[in-house]
Amino acid sequence: MSTPRLAVIGGTGLTQLKSLEITRRQVMHTPYGEPSGPLVFGRLNDTEIVFLPRHGARHTIPPHQVNYRANIWALKHAGVDNVIAVAAVGGITESMKPGMIAIPDQIIDYTWSRANTFFEGGDLEEVTHIDMTWPYNQGVRDTLLNAIDDLCIEAADRGTYGATQGPRLETAAEIDRMARDGCDLVGMTGMPETALARELELNYACCAVIANWAAGRAEGEITMDEIGRNLDQGMTRVKDVLTHVIETLS
Ligand code: HPA
Repeated sequence: MSTPRLAVIGGTGLTQLKSLEITRRQVMHTPYGEPSGPLVFGRLNDTEIVFLPRHGARHTIPPHQVNYRANIWALKHAGVDNVIAVAAVGGITESMKPGMIAIPDQIIDYTWSRANTFFEGGDLEEVTHIDMTWPYNQGVRDTLLNAIDDLCIEAADRGTYGATQGPRLETAAEIDRMARDGCDLVGMTGMPETALARELELNYACCAVIANWAAGRAEGEITMDEIGRNLDQGMTRVKDVLTHVIETLS
């Protein structure tokens, strides 16, 4: 069987990809523990891809407890080169409206206490510092942006993703601070996933779905109802984009 070159990491609202014909599931054990679930191999037309729901098949793993190292290691060792990471986010900047897709080009890490590197431990040959000037792979970003263009979907073609610790949402003051830092979007899973993918030399980009206005950016409080409604709308578009990307690959 050929090796799938593309993996999709599903986020909140994307625990399965219905357009895929599932060919097999593979349980992976890694030196870093268990991934969020078995890797799901699926076929669309002639292209096989790998799908991994970040929060588990039943959406039970909170963002700060995702085993990011195991997930990224498992994908690398399944032979994947390219990763599209789907993630639900809040919109901070006015143009980042709920229901829209955004393909971020920068990220700021506000997380703490997460296992955030493969380059540590006793068997290290030397200290390694990876370049993160441009944290997302431009080739994978272009593939996503071309699909978005072809489908005439309204999307933001850049943006700075602020990765927070969660699982709670932010305070309005925290979002004000993030806006001053230059963040356009806020989410809980972008780090350390992005950096770990770079450490293992995976071509990784994020397809963010804006689920709500970030705290204090709209009247009132953020409700799970609002998040659910916008995610449904956004994820329908993301599935179209992913299907188009996979069709283009074949
Ligand atoms: N903050 C952090 N993560 C999120 C949000 C948010 O407002 N919405 C969806 N994921």
